[in-house]
Amino acid sequence: MGKLKVAVIGCGNISVMHLDSIAAFEDVNLVAVCDIKEERAVAASQKYGGRVYTDYLEMFQKEKLDAVHICLPHYLHVPVSVDAFKNGINVICEKPMSIKYDDAVRAVETAEEYGVQYGIIFQCRYNAPSLLVKSRIEDGKLGTVKCGRTTLTWYRPDNYYDSSDWKGTWDKEGGGVVIDQAIHSLDLANWMINSTPVEIQSALHNRNHKIMVVEDTAEGLIKYANGALLSFYAMNNYLVDEPIEIRLLCENGKATFTYDNAVIEYKDGTVETAENNFDEAFKYSGGKDYWGFQHAVQIRQFYNAVLGKEKLEITGKEALKIQKIVCDIYDNGGMIKKS
Ligand SMILES: NC(=O)c1ccc[n+]([C@@H]2O[C@H](COP(=O)([O-])OP(=O)(O)OC[C@H]3O[C@@H](n4cnc5c(N)ncnc54)[C@H](O)[C@@H]3O)[C@@H](O)[C@H]2O)c1
Repeated sequence: MGKLKVAVIGCGNISVMHLDSIAAFEDVNLVAVCDIKEERAVAASQKYGGRVYTDYLEMFQKEKLDAVHICLPHYLHVPVSVDAFKNGINVICEKPMSIKYDDAVRAVETAEEYGVQYGIIFQCRYNAPSLLVKSRIEDGKLGTVKCGRTTLTWYRPDNYYDSSDWKGTWDKEGGGVVIDQAIHSLDLANWMINSTPVEIQSALHNRNHKIMVVEDTAEGLIKYANGALLSFYAMNNYLVDEPIEIRLLCENGKATFTYDNAVIEYKDGTVETAENNFDEAFKYSGGKDYWGFQHAVQIRQFYNAVLGKEKLEITGKEALKIQKIVCDIYDNGGMIKKS
């Protein structure tokens, strides 16, 4: 079998993580790049190769693609994914899979109908600290999560929103700090708790970004079917991007982890730790530290799934879990009125 023919749609900030990953894989060939801002597609093509397109449907027609990477504004994730599925193309899409939950369900159903792989990027699950805590919950050494908290304090100045034609809007981004940044911390905690949310309380505020209408601060509580409680706090009004911190109180001990390291303190007095392997991560890409470095690991798994060598872990169906939580947070967060 020849190399897989792949393309990237959306050549903005995050696309470098995808393009660097593709470049590192010997069995994958970047045949096209697409952006409605032609100069961005041209710049990507000059660095990584591939024919330049400004219309992704034309690209689907002209190139026999095995897979596309969707690195677009949030409101385009479902329509472009669905168009790809209908052309028999496997999709790896940036988070969030959608703005609306029902649209995300439709995308999952369409991928199943056309028999293609549908992966959603949540690269932080592949950090060594996340993997250690998850494995100790699953093998019973740490046991079930009883209670947890997540803290995200990041810096997004006004010009982060001002320089974008879609960030900071309800219709194109779908929200602010929750759907864009805290989706990572909430997904990690939800993945660890591994139960079904039965109640979500939330409050959303815009405390310091009068340039935009969506929330820059959110807090709330998620109650789970197994009795676990997860408190969350997220805001984009800090001066730096502090590492997300997640603390979990479990049956047999306490786990505290960030992207960088994990410390597990067991009730018997023993301690177990893990650190992210930055040398390994930077082998592929020069991304930003708060992005978590592990795009290449997840994208490699996606291609192994396309080749039938490995099962895809974060499928569209799996990502529906965090999509539902994010959408419920917005539905329940009464402080900000959606327009
Ligand atoms: N996984 C992570 O940690 C992480 C980090 C940053 C961004 N992201 C996600 O990546 C996605 C993109 O974010 P970004 O910061 O790169 O945005 P961006 O605005 O920098 O890039 C988006 C690109 O899409 C292009 N585009 C818009 N409409 C198009 C269309 N119809 N056809 C082709 N191209 C089109 C724009 O011109 C732009 O170049 C978002 O979903 C965001 O949440 C994920």
